[in-house]
Amino acid sequence: MGFFDFIDDLPHYAGRSTASKRMNCHHDFLINDFANDIAGAKVLDLASHDGRWCYGFAGAGAASVVGIEARPELVTEFSNYPDPALRAKVDMRVGYLFDGIRAEIAKGETYDVIGIFGILYHIMDHFSLFQLLRELKPRLVIVDSEFVMRDNATI
Ligand SMILES: C[S@@+](CC[C@H](N)C(=O)[O-])C[C@H]1O[C@@H](n2cnc3c(N)ncnc32)[C@H](O)[C@@H]1O
Repeated sequence: MGFFDFIDDLPHYAGRSTASKRMNCHHDFLINDFANDIAGAKVLDLASHDGRWCYGFAGAGAASVVGIEARPELVTEFSNYPDPALRAKVDMRVGYLFDGIRAEIAKGETYDVIGIFGILYHIMDHFSLFQLLRELKPRLVIVDSEFVMRDNATI
């Protein structure tokens, strides 16, 4: 039994029968490995797509989760996630992540845990991203990406 076993049945994943396998595998190292840090935490999830990792954070016992995703048609898919109690912990917002982060800083918000999953290769200004995130005072930032192992510095 994996946390995301249900996901193949959601309309967004129709025809992608390997989604649950991939998501369960990622869940092990993005969520389970940090279960103690996530439990009770206030979480910010960047580039949330249809809210799958927001739901994952909520399922791991996060107190609350804010998700920021640029594409509104993906945000509406979040209502298909099965457990209303987990969905109720999640505030899915439509917007660009830099705008969303700056808005949270302006409000004086802080977050315990920040998820940066599958987004570093969509943006150019990584340094600014991490500088801004420092202002949210997270105790844990989890990044799902890949290091390019080359002699010369490369992004
Ligand atoms: C590869 S998906 C990763 C989704 C999810 N974080 C995951 O790991 O499963 C990248 C997502 O980032 C969103 N996105 C791209 N640029 C963005 C931006 N500047 N602000 C917010 N979302 C963005 C895309 O619409 C897409 O849903």
